[in-house]
Amino acid sequence: MITVPVPLGARSYDVVVGHGAGHRLTEVVPVGVRRAAIVTQAAIGLGVDPGVEHRTWFIGQGEEAKCLATVEELCRQWSAWGLTRADVVVAVGGGVVTDTAGFAAAIYHRGIPVVNVPTTLLGQVDAAIGGKTGVNLPEGKNLVGAFWQPAAVLCDTGVLETLPPREYLSGCGEMAKYHFLGGDDLVDLPLDERVARCVAIKAGFVGEDEREGGRRALLNYGHTLAHALETAGHYDLRHGEAVAIGLVFAAHLARRLGRIDDRRVDEHVRVVAGYGLPTTVPPGSDPAELVRLMSRDKKAVRGLTFVLDGPAGVEVVPGVDAGHVRDVLEEMG
Ligand SMILES: NC(=O)c1ccc[n+]([C@@H]2O[C@H](COP(=O)([O-])OP(=O)(O)OC[C@H]3O[C@@H](n4cnc5c(N)ncnc54)[C@H](O)[C@@H]3O)[C@@H](O)[C@H]2O)c1
Repeated sequence: MITVPVPLGARSYDVVVGHGAGHRLTEVVPVGVRRAAIVTQAAIGLGVDPGVEHRTWFIGQGEEAKCLATVEELCRQWSAWGLTRADVVVAVGGGVVTDTAGFAAAIYHRGIPVVNVPTTLLGQVDAAIGGKTGVNLPEGKNLVGAFWQPAAVLCDTGVLETLPPREYLSGCGEMAKYHFLGGDDLVDLPLDERVARCVAIKAGFVGEDEREGGRRALLNYGHTLAHALETAGHYDLRHGEAVAIGLVFAAHLARRLGRIDDRRVDEHVRVVAGYGLPTTVPPGSDPAELVRLMSRDKKAVRGLTFVLDGPAGVEVVPGVDAGHVRDVLEEMG
């Protein structure tokens, strides 16, 4: 087992990574807890034992289940069961479960502890760590949420064996991102160490900038185009696949702006393709539509804004010329 600390002062916690880490639940449930509300999905099938009285709630699948109605249902049922502030929520699942259960835990009785047991690769290297919780509205993704740090995170890499291949690949897209955020050593690591290394990189950013006032935004590397591709909605892409395309796009754009050379672009393509992820924009993409969507990105306060690689590493670059962006998208088509 590898333990990675997330350094946040009084709210610090450990992420335990390894085959069978889920069995450590009794050790990480906060002291004095009487009851545990386990939230999961029927497809997941990872039984966990918190070592105290517990009940399990199953939520629905996909982004539709990540909504306020699910949060209300959970809170009402917890209340009927008598869950208190001295108890704990245990979220066992991918990002949909940890985001939704984490948000319910953040607001139930104005906040009760939550332990995350992420069961997707994307959850283990990203969604379950760092305290961003929330749900979707009909108006858009992740529009309602709260920062609510977990009490602990258990990344049981054994559970990834049952993950559908496409979901595994999606997690690889986020993993590929970490190669360019200080994780140049990731390529040669075995899975447990690789997950732990990704967690350590994310923990570093979260520890420095919990609420994304600055450096944490760099974790969005590759995400500006990824979100536009997802919002356009014409493409059959999982989130990590969209991020993979976004990483290669960001490299091409950085080269066009004179920030990096051909060798560094090739490195992006090699890492992304090495995971079996796509490196070109999907056929039929409309660059003008993608530019329009990217100009509505939350980061786009001073013109088109991207996280881009450069001589000083990855940084936020505002005011990027739309013509360059369109040209790069056309070249990547
Ligand atoms: N909070 C954050 O910082 C953060 C970061 C990245 C992504 N997210 C969110 O995460 C969500 C995506 O998460 P995801 O990619 O994990 O998808 P997901 O939670 O929808 O899980 C994908 C599918 O895999 C199934 N599954 C999960 N674990 C399994 C297992 N071990 N075996 C078999 N099937 C299993 C799930 O039931 C689901 O059908 C999005 O809503 C995204 O917004 C949050």
